[in-house]
Amino acid sequence: MTPRPRTAFITGGSSGLGYALAQRLLSQNYHIFIADISLDGAKELATTHNTPSVSKVHYAGADVSSWDSQLSAFKQALQALKGRIDYVFPIAGIGERRWLPFAEESAEGDFVKPNLQTLEVDLTGVLYTVALAVQQFRRQEKDERGWKGKLGLVASICGFSPVPAVPVYSAAKYGVVGLTRTYGKMLPTEGITVNAVCPGIARTSINTEAFYKSVEKDGILVSIDGVVDSFMDMIEGSGSAELYVCGPEGYVKKEEEKYDAWLQKSIDVLDEGHRWIHYSGL
Ligand SMILES: NC(=O)c1ccc[n+]([C@@H]2O[C@H](COP(=O)([O-])OP(=O)(O)OC[C@H]3O[C@@H](n4cnc5c(N)ncnc54)[C@H](O)[C@@H]3O)[C@@H](O)[C@H]2O)c1
Repeated sequence: MTPRPRTAFITGGSSGLGYALAQRLLSQNYHIFIADISLDGAKELATTHNTPSVSKVHYAGADVSSWDSQLSAFKQALQALKGRIDYVFPIAGIGERRWLPFAEESAEGDFVKPNLQTLEVDLTGVLYTVALAVQQFRRQEKDERGWKGKLGLVASICGFSPVPAVPVYSAAKYGVVGLTRTYGKMLPTEGITVNAVCPGIARTSINTEAFYKSVEKDGILVSIDGVVDSFMDMIEGSGSAELYVCGPEGYVKKEEEKYDAWLQKSIDVLDEGHRWIHYSGL
């Protein structure tokens, strides 16, 4: 009997990093489902890879910042992928938006509600995807290698190296780093892993060509292939809570910080004191 194809759910798979990952997975015979607000890339992949007898690429339009929208896409994915999703990649994201009026426009008038779209897509949207994935993984049997499912998130170098002019994006990416370093330590006992890539500047649709041209001169552009390699390492490895820092030469795993004894003890005590929130038997 031919082995069942491995399956993946990718948000933001129509462009950039998500699209490159989708291409790599398809080259290894995965069956994938793309949820994206824009479907041009997903449709192109479907045209290239689907045949009248085998559909490897499925997709649905979804806004990841809406729970209902993601839920609907995830349910469609479960149906298309025959009830099992091995890997989930919340990759959809946007860059920094103006969240407040210009400083020069703030002298008078009422307070303005901030635009939190970047946080809603880059953090709330990721939490929704993680919530769907973890609930689904818990319903699945372990695969032949002992895993119920794996999550590959996308943070950024902005998730640990503060960039002053991108505060809301950084808040979201620090959030993704925090989620990875915490949940990624709790879930492996259930057969679930959570890791994240932290790319530097990669040439995708998230920024302008003019910006990339200027960055290219500095020799710091990140290889998209290297980012995809780190996703593949997450799939094949058994690590969890790992941050893959992706630079021009490929990726390295970021070492965990070492804490003073009082701080480590505090972390341990807080951890033990909050496990009951997640498991009814404690
Ligand atoms: N390109 C970089 O330099 C870089 C660096 C670090 C991290 N990242 C992160 O990588 C991820 C992917 O970005 P990219 O660089 O490939 O950009 P991209 O613009 O090429 O791709 C982003 C994809 O997300 C989709 N998307 C955006 N908002 C959405 C929403 N609300 N709902 C559903 N889909 C939505 C877009 O349609 C697009 O297909 C993002 O999380 C980004 O923050 C990118």
